Amino acid sequence: MRKSFPAEDLARDARFVRIANEDRFNDPRGQIGLSAGTDKKNGRNPQRLTPDRPDAPDAARALMHGIFVGEIQALEGAGRTCWDFETGKGREDAPFELKLDMARQCWDEARHCEISVKLSEWMGTELGEFSENTFLYQAACNPDPVLRLTGVNRALEGLAIDVFNTMHSFGETAGDPVLEFCEDWMLADEVTHVKMGSDWLRRLTEQDPERRERALEFQRVVDKLFSFGGFRGEDEDSPIKLARRFRELAGFSNDEIDEIGEISAEARREVAGVQAG
Ligand SMILES: [Fe+2]
Ligand SMILES: [Fe+2]
Repeated sequence: MRKSFPAEDLARDARFVRIANEDRFNDPRGQIGLSAGTDKKNGRNPQRLTPDRPDAPDAARALMHGIFVGEIQALEGAGRTCWDFETGKGREDAPFELKLDMARQCWDEARHCEISVKLSEWMGTELGEFSENTFLYQAACNPDPVLRLTGVNRALEGLAIDVFNTMHSFGETAGDPVLEFCEDWMLADEVTHVKMGSDWLRRLTEQDPERRERALEFQRVVDKLFSFGGFRGEDEDSPIKLARRFRELAGFSNDEIDEIGEISAEARREVAGVQAG
């Protein structure tokens, strides 16, 4: 029986438009990061999502569509983790309790898919109006279950915490209670998913510092990639704010949160260097 499933074969109907990660990062319309610096004229970051921004509705719809495809892939990834490994306590296995957590996550992500579809419709978006790239699912194909949980649950769903929190504030300032409530409910579940990642990382690598280091390194690579050249950060004008309090609840230590802040700041400095040079 096939034990791993390539991203190209994921089931999608004709509405979905798949693009490669490189195209997503190099898309001149979405120079995420590269234009993330503060605008000298008005002193604010043009990419910060605020209702007074002229393209705010489109930017919010694009972000929400990205969240929606992420929810589908999170469901697919958690489902694969229940299936791809033998149940057990061996080095190559996934413990039964871990699979139980992944099954619970599938249930949450399925609900998030439904919420996202309805919320997107509410915001005036059609499915497939924006593209899909499968980075999240690809991170969920890692052959080591611990690396899957650090790459997906800690790094990418950690990012989801920051994004949901930002969207929640946007809904609040824009006066859209539907958006606000949807983000709030999904955010609560994401904190649980990230905590699962933190708990399993610690549990499964307790006696294996080398495996723990490999998992944390994988997380750093994903975190850096998804800091989008400083798009996520702790500055007043960061488009996506690092949600410290929720990350604490999700099992991140203060040092770990500081490190993500530092990774984001470094990504931002690199982009500033490119722009200056
Ligand atoms: Fe989710
Ligand atoms: Fe999740």
